[in-house]
Amino acid sequence: MRTAPSLARYPAPLIALHWLTLALMIGVYALIQWHDALPKGSELRTLAKAWHETLGVAVFALVLLRLPLRWWLGVPPALAGTPRWQHRLASSMHWALYGLLIAAPLLGYLSLNAKGTPVPFFGLQMPAFLGPDRALAGNLKEIHEAVGTLGYWLIGGHAAAALVHHYGMRDGTLARMGWARTQPASPPPSRA
Ligand code: HEM
Ligand code: HEM
Repeated sequence: MRTAPSLARYPAPLIALHWLTLALMIGVYALIQWHDALPKGSELRTLAKAWHETLGVAVFALVLLRLPLRWWLGVPPALAGTPRWQHRLASSMHWALYGLLIAAPLLGYLSLNAKGTPVPFFGLQMPAFLGPDRALAGNLKEIHEAVGTLGYWLIGGHAAAALVHHYGMRDGTLARMGWARTQPASPPPSRA
């Protein structure tokens, strides 16, 4: 983990990418839920699935940009006074979320490749990295769905933790991922 001790909050490009990823993830999940609820064979169902895939590929593109930027720009150190176990837990959670942002789209993408179905991306057709293989396609789809379902729990836990920090503990955790000039309820710790 590359920390930049002088930072009080995440660098602006990382903040933008974090919230843009959240917006895309809401779209990715909402579209697949909507797809499941629509009648089989309907045009809207096909459209919902195609946009699930397109936005999922966009999530992957953003994480590919975000990780090198994170390494280059650095991230703020743990808030002073944070117990070590809590910082470790938060870090593990963050890396699990990065794992989700990489694994879910990759598995979805490869499952379509193995099925021999084109992968859409804003009207373009993405290249295939696997040849058709029905059995593999079925397995990749199942793992993709399991990872996607696990994502609800990871994201739910992560968002709940951020809100508990903000409204319960009233520390500056949420402010580190925002642009607002408002100070956290308790004075920010010195990082001398
Ligand atoms: C962050 C990215 C993604 C997440 C979190 C995600 C999550 C999910 C979830 C939760 C499901 C439904 C599971 C269920 O109904 O039990 C699903 C289904 C599916 N996803 Fe994704 N997905 C992502 C990206 C992608 C991408 C990039 C592709 C392909 C390019 C893709 C292709 C599919 C397919 C083919 C299905 C099965 C739809 C069906 O039932 O026919 N997904 N995904
Ligand atoms: C309402 C939803 C969300 C809230 C309130 C939220 C809030 C936050 C906050 C406050 C941080 C900084 C934590 C710290 O400084 O220790 C953070 C970091 C992070 N969030 Fe979220 N988040 C949300 C949704 C998401 C989603 C959907 C994802 C991706 C699936 C995500 C992935 C991450 C990752 C990977 C980090 C670590 C950043 C790094 O150190 O590089 N977040 N989030």
